[in-house]
Amino acid sequence: MADRTHISTYENGPLLVTGGPFVLVDADGGEFSVEKETIALCRCGASTKKPFCDGTHSKVGFRAVERAVRGS
Ligand code: FES
Repeated sequence: MADRTHISTYENGPLLVTGGPFVLVDADGGEFSVEKETIALCRCGASTKKPFCDGTHSKVGFRAVERAVRGS
């Protein structure tokens, strides 16, 4: 297990989360264990494997315009 979890954005694609294994909790409180060091979470909304990215972002032309705001 990594010391720290690291979250980064993939340009016009998913959120890459490194530092697993992870426990994902859905809106109903359901927990899912993910025994991987790195996961890619969909942020385009088009993945058929939500919450994970399946690469569909490139087919739907997803463009992410947001950037992190310093000082928040
Ligand atoms: S970000 Fe990759 S399928 Fe949504």
